[in-house]
Amino acid sequence: MKGLILSGGKGTRLRPLTHTRAKQLIPIGGKPNLFYVVEDLVAAGISDIGVIISPETGDEVREALGSGERFGAEFNFIVQDQPLGLAHAVKSARGFLGGDPFVVYLGDNLLSGGIGHLVEAYRIRKSEAVLLYTRVADPRAFGVVVLDGSGRVAKLVEKPQDPPSNLALVGVYLFTPAVHGVIDMLKPSARGEYEITEAIQGLVDKSLKVEAFEVQGWWKDTGRPEDLLDANRLVLSDIRRKIEGELEGSEVVGEVVVEASAVIKNSTVRGPAYIGAGARVEESFVGPYTAIGNSAQVIKSEVEYSILLDGASVKNLPYRLDSSVLGEGVSVDGQGSQRRNTLQLVLGDRSQVKL
Ligand code: G1P
Repeated sequence: MKGLILSGGKGTRLRPLTHTRAKQLIPIGGKPNLFYVVEDLVAAGISDIGVIISPETGDEVREALGSGERFGAEFNFIVQDQPLGLAHAVKSARGFLGGDPFVVYLGDNLLSGGIGHLVEAYRIRKSEAVLLYTRVADPRAFGVVVLDGSGRVAKLVEKPQDPPSNLALVGVYLFTPAVHGVIDMLKPSARGEYEITEAIQGLVDKSLKVEAFEVQGWWKDTGRPEDLLDANRLVLSDIRRKIEGELEGSEVVGEVVVEASAVIKNSTVRGPAYIGAGARVEESFVGPYTAIGNSAQVIKSEVEYSILLDGASVKNLPYRLDSSVLGEGVSVDGQGSQRRNTLQLVLGDRSQVKL
């Protein structure tokens, strides 16, 4: 069985962060979303992995993933020249996929329970497609699935205005090569894309066996800033205390990771929190569900429920920074002004804010 990770697209809902980087590389709990995806595939026994990349961010993805050796995987990078949808991405990978069954995993999806049960279900039940779903309050932003009494898929609709169920499709799909013929017949949808949901509907229409299982644990599609923060919260909820950096006159409470060569000085860090390698926290408060990137700095400031990418810095902030995502190398300098309140920011790489 092969894996196909979709790591192209433009990430429009995550701008400005994605003006300069692939959304799949934004770190969640200190690690790019894409790395969790690779690890899930490898843990399910899938190491021959195709990675769909876009012309805009492909080099960055290629560089971040490398040869695959560190993951115990082998990568084949495939450029999707235009963002024409998930089914189009699968079509772009046909040469790589050949006649093998394969798992498609969207590079901005995050599952706590992995995908072992999906692969296992396929091995036992020999369906033409196996899907995962989760129950959501408002399914209108997702593919929506309707099941018959035995867990077989009866119908699917992509982002319906009037959802026929509350079962949202998770971005992990297992297919046999039967799907290729259906993809060849697809027409672009109203949003101009070749929808994977319609390809699966095509399998159902041919009376082929398509089954869906409820996802184990939590699932997140990290498509919007608030989802990134929520995913970060979920990942940090599972970390265990590990202090490899240096603590000086500081109180570091609970499940906190301080990576090597990070320095926490005269500060309070309240977990769960992640402090990346070479980061510096000085005379500051870092609150729960915060991830501070490598070589980032928090000086004389308070930060909570936020993500700071590598090399970002907040200094002398008169506000507590809350629910914020700061891109790589962003600098926010409060210059010591006095008023205390909270501040909420989503800043792309290398932004600069002076207050
Ligand atoms: C895609 C799929 C949708 C699925 C979602 C999961 O949507 O089209 O069916 O529910 O991923 O993340 P997109 O994120 O491309 O809008």
